[in-house]
Amino acid sequence: MAEIIRILAFTGSLRQGSYNKAALRAAQKLAPEGVAVEIIDLAGLPFFNEDLEAEGVPAVVEEFKARIIAADALLICTPEYNFSIPPVLKNALDWASRGEVTPVSGKPAAIMSASTGMLGGSRVQYHLRQVCTSLNLLVINRPEVFIAHAHTKFDEEGNLTDDRTAQSITRLLTALADWTRKQK
Ligand SMILES: Cc1cc2nc3c(=O)[nH]c(=O)nc-3n(C[C@H](O)[C@H](O)[C@H](O)COP(=O)(O)O)c2cc1C
Repeated sequence: MAEIIRILAFTGSLRQGSYNKAALRAAQKLAPEGVAVEIIDLAGLPFFNEDLEAEGVPAVVEEFKARIIAADALLICTPEYNFSIPPVLKNALDWASRGEVTPVSGKPAAIMSASTGMLGGSRVQYHLRQVCTSLNLLVINRPEVFIAHAHTKFDEEGNLTDDRTAQSITRLLTALADWTRKQK
């Protein structure tokens, strides 16, 4: 049997009822055979500060970087804030870009976004791709998953209720797993 692909998943939304968190939980359930999705919370990461870094990288940041190193691939599901990347997510990526060992460099990744707007976060995805280039994350280009009008795609418990979105997420996970196996 092929080796399991371990995907580390996170979002830039801290909101309890977040559609992006809900989309990650859906991805966890939809993961194809041989793929395991682990979701982590970015809430505990302090704001990046070079002074803090010089004093000694906080344990919570070291733990975050270790989780990235241990993962075969990353899945980022992000809201769009004012056409761009939420600060929580950018902050996490900034921490991950630092140090002698930059855990993100060369790591396969996939992006999706959920938004209450009609574009589903398309603008944030292209900003995020630009940042991922700086980090040398190897982000797959297709399929693109934009969850538009997210408030209509999940029930009150945050369960995904839209079949087309479920199919898109499944396709994305399959493509990410294939891409990750090619990189190994
Ligand atoms: C500060 C802020 C800025 C936002 N800007 C955008 C935006 O540029 N485009 C968009 O589609 N939605 C925007 N929204 C609406 C988000 O899509 C919506 O709040 C969404 O539910 C956030 O994701 P979450 O449910 O995962 O927290 C914004 C929301 C906030 C709080």
